[in-house]
Amino acid sequence: MQTNSRRQLVAGNWKMNGDKALVEQMQKQLAGASLKNMDVVICPPFPYLGLFDSRVKLGSQNISEFDSGAHTGEISIAMLHEFNCEYVIVGHSERRADNNESDELVAKKVEQVLKANLTPILCVGEPENVREDGTFFDYIAAQLDAVLSKVGINQFSKIVLAYEPIWAIGTGKTASPAQAQEVHAFIRGCLVKQDDNIAANIVILYGGSVKGNNAQELFSQADVDGGLIGGASLNPEDFLSICQAANQ
Ligand code: PGA
Repeated sequence: MQTNSRRQLVAGNWKMNGDKALVEQMQKQLAGASLKNMDVVICPPFPYLGLFDSRVKLGSQNISEFDSGAHTGEISIAMLHEFNCEYVIVGHSERRADNNESDELVAKKVEQVLKANLTPILCVGEPENVREDGTFFDYIAAQLDAVLSKVGINQFSKIVLAYEPIWAIGTGKTASPAQAQEVHAFIRGCLVKQDDNIAANIVILYGGSVKGNNAQELFSQADVDGGLIGGASLNPEDFLSICQAANQ
């Protein structure tokens, strides 16, 4: 494997949670922290994006595949630009399930984000039955392939990946560090076949019940470059301790 310049990244996905008070508390907590060796991104619900000051890097939880027009309830990439969003979560398992987002739609959204020079955080991960029947590598490879065949390997130099086993999301059942590492190495291996430099440098986050007390062990795995954090990103102290684990 080539040498790499990967920096750890921790992204907080608030989902449909939080309020104005949490925006204040989170900004205060992050402003007082010294996190020089990693990057932090907050992905709040859309109405709160405009309330953060410029010291906090922002991400969106979703994006429309269209540029503009008659798409009630959707948000365009140009709008995210105006609110200084740098990242967009694409293909989160909750959107794949709740909104029937197919691999093809996810690939289109990734393309939309890249076109606007923002960074997609592309989520992949298997449900519990697929983990149990042992076909999870194929499942994840197919999710990756849908995007690879749409945008091409070169664009992966501008993508962040997140491995999020669905059975570990919001369940308190974290993948063990060894389970996470196994899949992260597999994902990197899928990309090595196409471009070893891009594979070596792509940031791959782990998501699924990351907490202050398990972050360090997960993040110290060779192919785990930080985390996508749901529940624990709603508590500024817990979130900071996860960021500190990535800062080491
Ligand atoms: P969780 O969510 O940390 O609450 O498990 C992770 C995610 O859905 O990104």
